[in-house]
Amino acid sequence: MLYSDKVMDHFSNPRNVGELENYNACGEVGNLTCGDIMRMYMLIEDDIIKDVSFKTFGCGAAVATSSMATELVKGKSVKEALELTNKAVMEALDGLPPIKVHCSMLAEEAVKATLADYYRRQGIDPTPIVGNIESANVVTHDVPKENE
Ligand code: FES
Repeated sequence: MLYSDKVMDHFSNPRNVGELENYNACGEVGNLTCGDIMRMYMLIEDDIIKDVSFKTFGCGAAVATSSMATELVKGKSVKEALELTNKAVMEALDGLPPIKVHCSMLAEEAVKATLADYYRRQGIDPTPIVGNIESANVVTHDVPKENE
């Protein structure tokens, strides 16, 4: 079996899909090679991620990793969410085949891009906090701030 039961579950029944009605952070990342795109929305209050959702245009592993990433950061502090790694997402899904590891990278970067947007909206430069998320194969896109 190429994919674990958990991957199949989060692919078939993804959690937290769609756009939040109220959010104050939104980030989008894409992989240049495969062309997959993830967008994440967060409602952050008192430094806690009260709600989070995603929209992913991509492969099954991208859907499963974004679903799991939202589950892992929901209810967490911004600081805790910044510590989420693609490895933790993969472990929570009981692993991914090597060819799909980059999908979990995209999920980690989507969380970081969303938190970067959260800081940016407060006039804070996110780079020293979040790091440079425009790493080798991942690009971030500006997203409309229709929910301000
Ligand atoms: Fe690119 Fe899965 S194939 S994110």
